[in-house]
Amino acid sequence: MIKPSTDLELVHRFTTGEGANAGTTLLLLHGTGGDENDLVPLGESLLPGAAILSPRGAVSERGAPRFFKRLAEGVFDLEDLALRTQQLIRFVNGAVEKYEIDSAKLIAVGFSNGANIAASVLLTGPTLFSAAILFRAMVPFEPRTPAKLPGTPVLLSSGEWDPIATPEQARRLQSLLTTAGAVATINFFNAGHEITNDDVLDAAHFIAALT
Ligand code: MLT
Repeated sequence: MIKPSTDLELVHRFTTGEGANAGTTLLLLHGTGGDENDLVPLGESLLPGAAILSPRGAVSERGAPRFFKRLAEGVFDLEDLALRTQQLIRFVNGAVEKYEIDSAKLIAVGFSNGANIAASVLLTGPTLFSAAILFRAMVPFEPRTPAKLPGTPVLLSSGEWDPIATPEQARRLQSLLTTAGAVATINFFNAGHEITNDDVLDAAHFIAALT
């Protein structure tokens, strides 16, 4: 059942799970200019039958939805990022209660701007996701103190030729997540900023190994 909804602060869709994977929920976080429908096919390929929770970023950049403001490409508005990170945490906690989501099986799947806000949630703490897949992620901010993410599995799926979320950015993020206690794996693909079939196959294996 699909339930489009505007409560819980963020416009979102929630689809209940079906079959063997019904107990797992994928939190889908779109890239700049996307919306709550964008990553649904990706979620369905990653774990068929999983429940899907997919919010739309509340920031508009000349009409393009985002999860937080930026001052220029790759230059983030850190004050807004901190506020929006808390907004997403409140949204997820509210959704867990409203839709009776098992938070022990709540996997964040973010692309680009969505991966960056997921990384911000991870680096802010407390633990909200049981695991995370970050496609084309960057360092959202440099934490003053490491979050506590004991053993949280995180996959960074990165493009070797990505001019936005560069390999250096991805490696630095992996290092910050590892310092926080996460088990952060980084895989590079022969790709730029866009997600390829190889990313999807690899991420599906990562999820299969968790569930
Ligand atoms: C961001 O602003 O989060 C990153 O630059 C990725 C993007 O959305 O282009």
